[in-house]
Amino acid sequence: MINQADRRSFLKAMAGSALAAGAARMEAQPENPIRLAMIGTGHRAWAHLGVLKTLPQFQVVALADPTAENLARAAELAPGAKTYSDYHQLLSVADDADAAVVITPNFLHAEATVAALERGLPVLCEKPIATNVEDANRMIEASRKAGKMLYIGFQLRLDPTIVKMRELYRAGTIGKLEFVSTGLLRGDWNPASWKYTDPKTGAKTNWRFLTFTEGGALLEDGIHQLDFLNWMIDSKVLKVMATGGNNVLKQRETIDHAAVIVEYENDVKLSFDFMLFANNSGDDSLRVVLVGDQGILKREHDSKVSIRSRSGSSVRYIEVKDNAPKEATAHAVGVSQDPETYQQYVEFARALTQGAPPLITGEQGKVAMKISLLAEASVRQQRIMSWDDLPA
Ligand SMILES: NC(=O)c1ccc[n+]([C@@H]2O[C@H](COP(=O)([O-])OP(=O)(O)OC[C@H]3O[C@@H](n4cnc5c(N)ncnc54)[C@H](O)[C@@H]3O)[C@@H](O)[C@H]2O)c1
Repeated sequence: MINQADRRSFLKAMAGSALAAGAARMEAQPENPIRLAMIGTGHRAWAHLGVLKTLPQFQVVALADPTAENLARAAELAPGAKTYSDYHQLLSVADDADAAVVITPNFLHAEATVAALERGLPVLCEKPIATNVEDANRMIEASRKAGKMLYIGFQLRLDPTIVKMRELYRAGTIGKLEFVSTGLLRGDWNPASWKYTDPKTGAKTNWRFLTFTEGGALLEDGIHQLDFLNWMIDSKVLKVMATGGNNVLKQRETIDHAAVIVEYENDVKLSFDFMLFANNSGDDSLRVVLVGDQGILKREHDSKVSIRSRSGSSVRYIEVKDNAPKEATAHAVGVSQDPETYQQYVEFARALTQGAPPLITGEQGKVAMKISLLAEASVRQQRIMSWDDLPA
């Protein structure tokens, strides 16, 4: 058996070389778990912790959050973890950890991630990577400089239906892709989200209502679809155009709906409807349709994908299996299914221990962020945005 010091230096070296190919292999074992330090322990962190309870290859050893009640709830889900009100304190004793997970409000992703990377820890950072290009570049550069992995948490890439759709599309099932239609019809943001205190006025505001702290509504959610579809389409974005605003939820800076079109170099157009006032939209809550010159691929409800002919009535349903254990998907925050977050940690462990590149790199996180930011800018500026309207 590998002793603690050897295991730790091995994991550190592995994480460090995760960007390089050809590293040696070692599986994290329950008796030698990967020790995680979590920065930000609000609602999403509780979901992570519920999933992590079922993954013996991980052990959560430290938690940091300035909100005492959120930290206490997280501590209940990670018995034995040390708790800190300030993540800088946590990082000052980071020798007890092998990797960090950043789950703060969006505007803090960059500072927490860069600090953890500079402390020598590989990082799993929740989506979106950041709220602006400069911050995303700082994170990518810190990862490169430290030689430590940066993995961006777009867990929906691992949703079994999305995995199957990508596989079928890449196998040529629908021929040449012509058009992608997608929609996110959901309810409003969690009213119990952390409140940002304006240093000038002392006013406290849900961080998802402010452009500065959220980065934009499309950046906060629609970005999942913009990421996994961009991953499937696999071409350069040329233009982004969008219209939107606040039709229902007016007492905030951030928008409550948008209709977005993304134009790709390979001639594919992606059309995306986004709204926060449609929480009872049934099967359409997450719509994904890929139209090719030989057929149509559609994400169906109940873990199915359909393949349809473009004309006529032929339709074939494929059932997809979710192989995450049931106890991993019945977690602590009221969402009944979250197999993709379980798979995300399986992927993260694989990248850490096998020296494999992360499934979602900082650069890919930056592309999804830029598409979202361009759509937000198009709404505000009422013009078509080019890819070069944002810095590289
Ligand atoms: N991947 C997904 O599906 C998904 C789902 C929900 C949220 N998220 C992401 O997770 C992140 C957090 O969202 P949430 O729903 O947990 O929000 P939340 O408001 O419930 O929790 C945010 C937490 O961050 C803490 N925090 C604030 N300042 C901090 C600091 N300086 N250091 C450490 N912690 C700090 C707050 O006290 C709070 O506990 C966001 O980036 C969000 O986009 C991802």
